Amino acid sequence: MSLEVLHQYEKSQICVLADKSLIRHPQWLALEALHEQPVLWLDVNEQTKSLETVTQIWDFLFANGITRRGLLICIGGGVLTDIGGFAAATYKRGIDYINIPTTLLAMIDASSGGKTGINYHGLKNSIGVFADPVQTILCPEWLTTLPVQQILSGFGEMLKTGLLDETLFPELMQYDLDHMDINAMTTLIHQCLDKKRTIVAADPREEGLRKALNLGHTFGHALEEIQMVNGQSSNGKWLHGYAVVYGLIAELYLSVTKLGCPREPLQQLTQMMLHYYGKPQCKCSDREQLIALMQQDKKNERTAQINCTLIRAVGSPVINQVITMDEANEAFDYLFSL
Ligand code: GLY
Repeated sequence: MSLEVLHQYEKSQICVLADKSLIRHPQWLALEALHEQPVLWLDVNEQTKSLETVTQIWDFLFANGITRRGLLICIGGGVLTDIGGFAAATYKRGIDYINIPTTLLAMIDASSGGKTGINYHGLKNSIGVFADPVQTILCPEWLTTLPVQQILSGFGEMLKTGLLDETLFPELMQYDLDHMDINAMTTLIHQCLDKKRTIVAADPREEGLRKALNLGHTFGHALEEIQMVNGQSSNGKWLHGYAVVYGLIAELYLSVTKLGCPREPLQQLTQMMLHYYGKPQCKCSDREQLIALMQQDKKNERTAQINCTLIRAVGSPVINQVITMDEANEAFDYLFSL
């Protein structure tokens, strides 16, 4: 892992924010260049993405005399890089930050593209800013110690990216998740990142094309938020990427019924979900809450309207699709009947 970029900063101006669970991780122990810098170790879960944690990070930066020429290095998964990026982007009107993602989910999505933020009033990422890290340092060796559920969660975001690309999707479908080959996975990670980079470069502020990267997330976020609202513990089945897979299935179902997308990707993804991810656990009584959450989604341009990205075919996203309540219910019927 190259830390060349650190030479651009005074040593006294570099702070580290890291996930406490990595304190004895071999990859952290190998990062000797950082061991003398101040480190704020955070206990990380979805509740960590709060204003209280942001103030904790700001206090840490103040306590260490970080000026506007400072650097925050964020080491962890997507929750940590989202909140670290947000704290850095707002501290003294913005200091530099670097992401070192340690989970597949963060490598694929959260650590690049400049979206930072926190959850507020139970709504995911409802407060935040766009602020690019000066660098994202990828080191797939972090993946070798990752629990299988975390790999599956990251793979959920890879599947989303794959559905936006005719070449990538069949390659992801062929990847053998039962025997993770790190080299093949590294190649796929870079392909997903190239796809994301192309989209973000064309529309960094998500005014149009970038909304394609929200495929699966309108339904997915609502399912994920129900877990937060209900306070269920994360048992691996509700990691973000699992919710994205469920959301992809609901939104592919609507892609078929509303836009005439071929059924094959829906069938392939449904099979994959049943084999690896299990069924979503929502009850019918959750429906109203799910629909209300989708109506409040920050991606909507009008209140009380559900807005989704769908696909006409693999590689052909169609943004700004308005979904009626009947259509949303039909998609949930499909998903919950599997
Ligand atoms: N997570 C989707 C995006 O970065 O736009």
